[in-house]
Amino acid sequence: MKNILHSPLRLGPIQLPNRAIMAPLTRGRAGESRIPNDLMKTYYTQRASAGLIITEATAVSEDGFGWVGAPAIYNDDQQQGWRKITTAVHEAGGHIFMQLWHMGRVSHPDFLNGQTPVGPSPIAAEGMAVTPGGKKPYVVPRPLTEKDMTVLLGKYAKATERCLEAGFDGVEIHSANGYLLDQFLRDGSNRRADEYGGSIENRMRFPLQVVDAVIKVATKERVGLRISPVNPFNDMRDSNARELFTRYATELAKRDIVYLHVLEALPGHFLYAEGEEPVLPHIREVFAGILIANGGYTLEKANELLDSGGANAIAFGTAFLANPDLVERFQRRAKLNVPDMATFYTAGPEGYTDYPFIGQ
Ligand SMILES: Cc1cc2nc3c(=O)[nH]c(=O)nc-3n(C[C@H](O)[C@H](O)[C@H](O)COP(=O)(O)O)c2cc1C
Repeated sequence: MKNILHSPLRLGPIQLPNRAIMAPLTRGRAGESRIPNDLMKTYYTQRASAGLIITEATAVSEDGFGWVGAPAIYNDDQQQGWRKITTAVHEAGGHIFMQLWHMGRVSHPDFLNGQTPVGPSPIAAEGMAVTPGGKKPYVVPRPLTEKDMTVLLGKYAKATERCLEAGFDGVEIHSANGYLLDQFLRDGSNRRADEYGGSIENRMRFPLQVVDAVIKVATKERVGLRISPVNPFNDMRDSNARELFTRYATELAKRDIVYLHVLEALPGHFLYAEGEEPVLPHIREVFAGILIANGGYTLEKANELLDSGGANAIAFGTAFLANPDLVERFQRRAKLNVPDMATFYTAGPEGYTDYPFIGQ
């Protein structure tokens, strides 16, 4: 039987020692400056034995920001902060991609100097933004004009350039979880009448323009992308998620990106979408490149999927959050630390860098 721990994986120019990937995890420890700091360096370095670390979602532009304590990558200081982290992770033998993030309509004016968040169409998400001043309802976004989109493509390109300069091995475009690119893809949030809305082909247009802009800077060997076809995050709806995401994966396969990362939780998981058909098997049919699956996997379930060819690597979120030495624990079949939800997004080292290593 294939095993995620004992099969290295070629990922473009880099060789991953194993197929246990650290999923992107927002942890809110960057402070108001949005600059990665020494505490974050410790956290990521502790987890360097992952086959690949995908960073927490990181804002590519000021107007894409909207999470207390999240980091960004649109200025020199942020870039320098990340440089320290990539250097330390590489010195510890690890590999690291940055997740490129724009929150679109689920940001809030309180993060944007009073400006209205942007989105594909003037449709507010249901739910509340967690602002520095507490929970507030999402607002109706300002629809992006074509000129805005051109500017934004430039910002994705610039952020990618900064990532490479900061020493990242590559970037993961965040096209999941109800953020800007996901908002464009789905007909529940995209009601545009121009060539960016309506048909699936039109709804995919802006996200694919982002992919092309990022590939132009980084080359396809350093560009991955994440989707969450049936994920219930951030009030996402679509009339036909299976067709939408199968066609999106087909387009991404044509571009030969280095991996496609699919969050689709297994039954019993807190993100499991009850009553929805799994889309991952359909994606596997059209995407022959490296497919990373995520959402509720145990070591056993991960190996089963790998063995069946259903995916080429497995990402672990909460397990890496609570177990810096997850790979070693898997190897030894050791007990795992239990994640503490109360400290997922708080400040400081508690519940962040103080999860014990095996034997500690
Ligand atoms: C605290 C926390 C923060 C998260 N932050 C992100 C993020 O920044 N980007 C993202 O794409 N997914 C994010 N997710 C989703 C995880 O990457 C992952 O999909 C989820 O935890 C399910 O995987 P698991 O069952 O292995 O934990 C987050 C999840 C948690 C629990």
